[in-house]
Amino acid sequence: MNTLIFDTDDKLGEAAANILSGLVQTKPRAVLGLATGGTPVGIYNQVVSDFKRGMFSFREVTTFNLDEYVGLPVDHPESYHSYMRHHLFDHIDLPAAQAYLPDGNASDIAAECRRYDELIDRAGQIDLQLLGLGHNGHIGFNEPAHALIRGTHVVELAEETLQANARYFQSLDEVPKQALTMGVGTILKAKMIVLVVKGADKAAIVQSALQGPITTDCPASLLQTHPHLIVLLDRAAAEKLGGTSP
Ligand code: F6R
Repeated sequence: MNTLIFDTDDKLGEAAANILSGLVQTKPRAVLGLATGGTPVGIYNQVVSDFKRGMFSFREVTTFNLDEYVGLPVDHPESYHSYMRHHLFDHIDLPAAQAYLPDGNASDIAAECRRYDELIDRAGQIDLQLLGLGHNGHIGFNEPAHALIRGTHVVELAEETLQANARYFQSLDEVPKQALTMGVGTILKAKMIVLVVKGADKAAIVQSALQGPITTDCPASLLQTHPHLIVLLDRAAAEKLGGTSP
């Protein structure tokens, strides 16, 4: 595990974007695993500005998003389809047919989960998986549980997750209660994982995830087993880490 700690959001976003942009430059056919939420916004802004400077092209890249709400129309402003268009896809030359998200409106959810896993398998290994971290240790929407599921599946969102995501909706009641998420097995199969976490409110869970026991009660702790994990933190998120050098 390689942990880097940054003084400003801009520097953190720049470092994450450099990893992502650098990969696309050196491997034009890269397969990227992408995240949504508040954390990656600055990263995508930076990637878009690198792209606009003509540094590389996404024409041959394939992307797979971690998750999508169940039952939220794709054109709802808070769907992850909309998020990705708004923050990244509308500003780069990635062909729409190579940008995959799970379909939370599929009539047969089990078949959709199988289809998504097959698409990922067919693309080969994910070269770089970008991850944020939930306050309860979730990655993707793999919530704490007795057992974690390997592939794409439907999940009941935890109360903490509903509360955290309520900031994007008019009220807590409007937050979809279920989501489709890539499984932890798929996430761990990525060649490289870049975990990005910001804010003092995540300091305790960062410490548990990176230095605590490996347990399904904290899904992110399984990342400790990954051979190529890069962790990018701001000072506030890193404040409870002992013995980890920047
Ligand atoms: C988003 C995702 C989630 C978020 C996590 C942190 O696609 O899979 O695991 O990364 O909930 O969200 P933010 O960045 O909003 O704190």
